[in-house]
Amino acid sequence: MTAKFIVIEGLEGAGKSTAISICQQFLTQHNVDFVNVREPGGTPLAEQLRDLVKANHQEQIASETELLIMYAARAQLVNNVIRPALNNGQWVLGDRHDLSSQAYQGGGREIEQTTLKALSDIVLKGLKPDLTIYLDIEPSIGLARAKGRGELDRIEQEALSFFERTRAQYLNLANNDDSIKTVNANQTMAQVHNDIITVLEQFMQSNN
Ligand SMILES: Nc1ncnc2c1ncn2[C@@H]1O[C@H](COP(=O)(O)OP(=O)(O)OP(=O)(O)O)[C@@H](O)[C@H]1O
Ligand SMILES: [Mg+2]
Repeated sequence: MTAKFIVIEGLEGAGKSTAISICQQFLTQHNVDFVNVREPGGTPLAEQLRDLVKANHQEQIASETELLIMYAARAQLVNNVIRPALNNGQWVLGDRHDLSSQAYQGGGREIEQTTLKALSDIVLKGLKPDLTIYLDIEPSIGLARAKGRGELDRIEQEALSFFERTRAQYLNLANNDDSIKTVNANQTMAQVHNDIITVLEQFMQSNN
């Protein structure tokens, strides 16, 4: 099997980090060599961009500024980590990727699809995850989980309506792309765990 690119997506507190651990365990059991990445971030420069975009600033951050920081960070990660790993036969396990921009900047910030398409064409040059697991959660539940972990960052402080728009866009995109599998993340940890394993097993079978 050629190296695959698997991404976990979802709102804050949806359970992405938890899902990453489940995937790590699954891939290890299947003797798959993989690297972990997260977005925004994953290279020293991209991690600085992550800190910048998540921090609260005195000045208003324009939606376009946020958008371009996200894609600048993604360009670093794709060029310096994701492509080299895949070319080297290593799988890549991502905590967020381009779908986050489609959902947050496209849905939440209401930036036009043509703008997003132009940027993702420049940065991704056809790179697309082989499998995306989208953890669908009620925004209020996700935010309550995220709050339990500590202070909220700049984006997490957005109004509930922002996350409702982001979720609607996630669902819309997931329903129109067979490589995106939606898991109901409102369920208990054990149920979510089972659903993730089912998706991963189906993915392995369909690639055998
Ligand atoms: N299905 C679940 N039911 C209840 N609690 C959960 C569930 N999944 C995860 N949690 C808990 O909710 C919190 C957030 O989960 P996690 O860190 O995995 O989410 P995340 O999507 O990675 O969040 P972030 O977007 O902030 O990185 C953690 O304390 C985790 O243990
Ligand atoms: Mg996380």
